[in-house]
Amino acid sequence: MSNAKQILAMIRSRAEGDEDAFYSIALQVAASEARQGHRQIADELRSEIDKARARGGRGQSVAIPFATPRGNLEGLLELRQPRFNLKDVVLNDRLLARIDDVLRQQRKRDWLREHGKTPNRRLLFVGPPGSGKTMSAEAVAGELHLPLFVIRLESMITRYMGETAAKLRLIFDETSKRRGVYLFDEFDAVGGRRTASNDVAEMRRVLNSFLQFMEESNSTDSIIICSTNHPKLLDRALLRRYDQVLEFDAPSSQQIRQLITASLGKMTIEKPNWTSIVRASKLLSQSEIVRATDDAVKTAILDERIHLSTENILERLRERRSMRNAFMESKGA
Ligand SMILES: Nc1ncnc2c1ncn2[C@@H]1O[C@H](COP(=O)(O)OP(=O)(O)O)[C@@H](O)[C@H]1O
Ligand SMILES: [Mg+2]
Repeated sequence: MSNAKQILAMIRSRAEGDEDAFYSIALQVAASEARQGHRQIADELRSEIDKARARGGRGQSVAIPFATPRGNLEGLLELRQPRFNLKDVVLNDRLLARIDDVLRQQRKRDWLREHGKTPNRRLLFVGPPGSGKTMSAEAVAGELHLPLFVIRLESMITRYMGETAAKLRLIFDETSKRRGVYLFDEFDAVGGRRTASNDVAEMRRVLNSFLQFMEESNSTDSIIICSTNHPKLLDRALLRRYDQVLEFDAPSSQQIRQLITASLGKMTIEKPNWTSIVRASKLLSQSEIVRATDDAVKTAILDERIHLSTENILERLRERRSMRNAFMESKGA
């Protein structure tokens, strides 16, 4: 492509608000300069593009259109505005490093592609309920300034009995048309768990389609995240399709402290007894700890206090524990 044509294409993509196309053409210009031996200008171009991208899509003149899915896709994909960044999620260092690695590959995907590589984009999040899987998927979208589309397979299967594979096809087509993060949340359904609403033959069809679609190349490098609480239910053939399997765990003592401190916001705990707070948090999920703290904060606000006592928090943590126990008993666990 000549320079004039590239400039034209850039103007068009800008007018359409297609930020991705805009930068991708700019990177093509950099690549062609590099091929002509103009190393310096190529590097300069790339570093400016990186900087502009790092400043992010939001509040910028070139914005990605975050339109709600319509037509055939309506009801299949739920568009969610990412509310989190990675710094909001309390994770262990190993997990953080691995998510960072994915983000880095995605941010520099044009570089990778120039070298004939594709960035990692198929992720499986495995871990107990309330450990931050959905939140992390949101954070990945937030960090990359991409729209987040949530797909609930279980309800899709119930709704489109016999046609689920065809609906999946539509979703995967969309992933290659529109760059975004596609979250198959609570993905256990595909692993073969039987519920009242699905039959084995349908599950098999859905799984086979999924396996096939996951193998397809994707020029937009859209990210596909599947999250599950039950890794054992997942098919081995399916596990192999992921670029990364990320395991979420119960919170460590240090993470419990971090979760509580972050949830306190401007509030403080007077003379906190962390040993007993951490002890009372054991066996609770990240989500339950956040909620317990939040409840204690709400009470303090209504009481017009700016401090909490250790006992205020402990009480709410115990409450969460008994809620969990009541739930377990009712499930006969
Ligand atoms: N690791 C975490 N760090 C911070 N907050 C968390 C974390 N895990 C859960 N939470 C809190 O609990 C809520 C529910 O967590 P979620 O991501 O939906 O869990 P999961 O998808 O693993 O079941 C989140 O919106 C957040 O408020
Ligand atoms: Mg979830």
